[in-house]
Amino acid sequence: MTAHSLAAGRTMVAIPGPSIIPDRVLAAFAEPMPDLYDGPIVSTATEVRERLPGIARTEGEAFIVIGNGHAAWQMATSNTLARGDKVLVLEAGRFATVWGIYTAVSDIEVEEIPGDDRTPVDPAAVEAHLAADTNHEIKAVLIAHVDTASSVRNDIPAIRAAMDAANHPALLMVDCIASMGCETFEMDEWGVDIAVAGCQKGLMVPPGVAFVWVGEKAAAAHARADQRVGYFDWESRRDTSNMYSYYAGTPPIGHLRGLREAFAIIEEEGGIEAVWARHRVLGAAVRAAVDTWSTPGGLEFQVLDPAHRSDCVTTVRLTDGDPEVVRSMAEHQAGLIVGLGIAGIPGFRIAHMGHVNPPMILGTLGTIEAVLQASGVPTGGSGVAAAAAVIGNHLAG
Ligand SMILES: Cc1ncc(COP(=O)(O)O)c(C=O)c1O
Repeated sequence: MTAHSLAAGRTMVAIPGPSIIPDRVLAAFAEPMPDLYDGPIVSTATEVRERLPGIARTEGEAFIVIGNGHAAWQMATSNTLARGDKVLVLEAGRFATVWGIYTAVSDIEVEEIPGDDRTPVDPAAVEAHLAADTNHEIKAVLIAHVDTASSVRNDIPAIRAAMDAANHPALLMVDCIASMGCETFEMDEWGVDIAVAGCQKGLMVPPGVAFVWVGEKAAAAHARADQRVGYFDWESRRDTSNMYSYYAGTPPIGHLRGLREAFAIIEEEGGIEAVWARHRVLGAAVRAAVDTWSTPGGLEFQVLDPAHRSDCVTTVRLTDGDPEVVRSMAEHQAGLIVGLGIAGIPGFRIAHMGHVNPPMILGTLGTIEAVLQASGVPTGGSGVAAAAAVIGNHLAG
């Protein structure tokens, strides 16, 4: 800490995953190990499994894989694709490209519609690309719902509509690793064939397990998949009465207990729709702050169109000045850790995902405002006042 540091006290972590973990989730990880196959852990595992479809709003199957988001990516593609297939990656930041890279290692050919990091995937470009694939060699379309680098939120129903307009049978696979449990997501209603998520962002559990939700069309594609490998194979994981085979080995006891608590917290709030509604208000508060701060020679939104700014993370772009100065001062002198700009984006990222409420968001924004001032980044006015007004208006009903 430097001479001017005020960082003592509880550090506020506002990076876009892992997010803040509720105390009762952390406490659940500290419970002693149980008998694996009998007693409360079996009912905990059943409860968690049964809640999963409701989180993604699907009637389809849900798998839990011990691993991170990359493991869920791999489970999705290895269970549905065959050698020689093509996949189409739709980029609006960074993460769909990386999913494509992890998919391409197994004799899968990747085509990409590149993005510019500031705008969402263009449904018209998707329709044109798929319409040109007259032999239907493309078997899957990969897209992130919210890209955590750019903070672009893609319009998934519009992508589905574009695929339908091209009359193309590819599977629509959506990375909800940033958005699940934060943003409205209707897997079945939107015609999504596979959704993947991790537990460490909106779902409020330390990293280590991930989820794959599978619709009927994707489940049918499994029969022709020749990329299947034992550990990830859905086939051996279908028997939900057998914990050992469902998890392909020892179950993730701590994570199951953590998820039990996280899902209970979601229920107590009023269910997933109430959670989405809270994220909408807090997201709007953050955006009101950034909008007010925005000024030439200072900072601006990374995402150009307000309709495509996400409710779980906001990427702020510095038009001048060094984002590392801001980030470092926030962390070392003010006790606030904000996300680094990644994928070459010159700025920082404010997370508003998962276990967050007004004091956490207003504290984060107030600290950023102080740091912007201290580090000489010009702003257009008090973003905190604007954010407080959004929250106040909501509270007033
Ligand atoms: C949108 C998105 N996709 C994928 C990933 C990769 O997830 P993991 O780091 O858990 O493998 C991340 C991680 O930040 C992400 O934000």
